[in-house]
Amino acid sequence: MNENKPICLSAKGVTKIFGVGQHKMRAVDNVNMDLYVGEVVSIVGESGSGKTTLAKILLGLTKETEGEIYFLGQKRDLRGGKRKKEYWKNIQAIFQDPFSSFNTFNKIDSVLLDCIKLRGDGGLPKEKKIELMKEACGFVNLKFEELTNKYPFELSGGQQQRLMIARIFLLKPKILVADEPTSMIDACSRATILDYLMQLRNEVGMTVIFITHDIGLAYYVSDTVYIMEHGKIVESGSADRVILHPQEAYTRRLISDVPKIHEPWDLSTV
Ligand SMILES: Nc1ncnc2c1ncn2[C@@H]1O[C@H](COP(=O)(O)OP(=O)(O)OP(=O)(O)O)[C@@H](O)[C@H]1O
Ligand SMILES: [Mg+2]
Repeated sequence: MNENKPICLSAKGVTKIFGVGQHKMRAVDNVNMDLYVGEVVSIVGESGSGKTTLAKILLGLTKETEGEIYFLGQKRDLRGGKRKKEYWKNIQAIFQDPFSSFNTFNKIDSVLLDCIKLRGDGGLPKEKKIELMKEACGFVNLKFEELTNKYPFELSGGQQQRLMIARIFLLKPKILVADEPTSMIDACSRATILDYLMQLRNEVGMTVIFITHDIGLAYYVSDTVYIMEHGKIVESGSADRVILHPQEAYTRRLISDVPKIHEPWDLSTV
């Protein structure tokens, strides 16, 4: 299915060791992956299996102990602030806890203005920037006028999640990493957020990496699934292959934890 699409991001032998001496542990252990342009990939595993650590390495927020990351065929080099900034134009994240993603002292307009600057449009006239921010808020059904003088902590959890998506709408990165983006919110907002992300993905052609415990969600949203156990990828392949025909006992156990995996999600009822 992916053969004719270019590879967007690769991990080759990526390992992360935390601690020293006796306390050494391999949070990520020799991970290899090829993510294709426009693909939706899920990384599924139990708590502590290393998903967030791997995500942070892909994002360039945590330094790998061993191995390399390739972005669009080039070995990634993040030495120096300028290179990092350039890389972060291309890869962005939505985290478990939306609150932690925002600088508490910045009002919402400056959160959005920063995105406009990061994408290189800082020099646009003020009216044009406001227009862009309004459009981004409109995309996620937030009213820019009601937000301008607020701080992110004054928003509800669901509004914060939507603000994060408004950032992504402005930045239009090539890759989006969504680490349990829907865990904090109710089923209704969850479906809405997924819907926004999938819409953005279709419009922008983003590669989306979902990180989740929820193999049912992975089946529903992704083309490719990677199963992670104790830092290792133990099984990977198309969502249908991995979830309907799992080879590994660990994968089967993750599936058996989900009661209704074979039934399609009915979003109209949530
Ligand atoms: N900064 C750190 N220093 C030391 N150990 C860490 C650090 N970050 C993560 N770990 C350890 O690495 C392992 C993997 O953690 P990680 O957060 O990647 O798991 P996860 O799969 O995201 O779990 P969850 O589903 O609960 O979010 C855990 O044992 C954790 O305690
Ligand atoms: Mg995690």
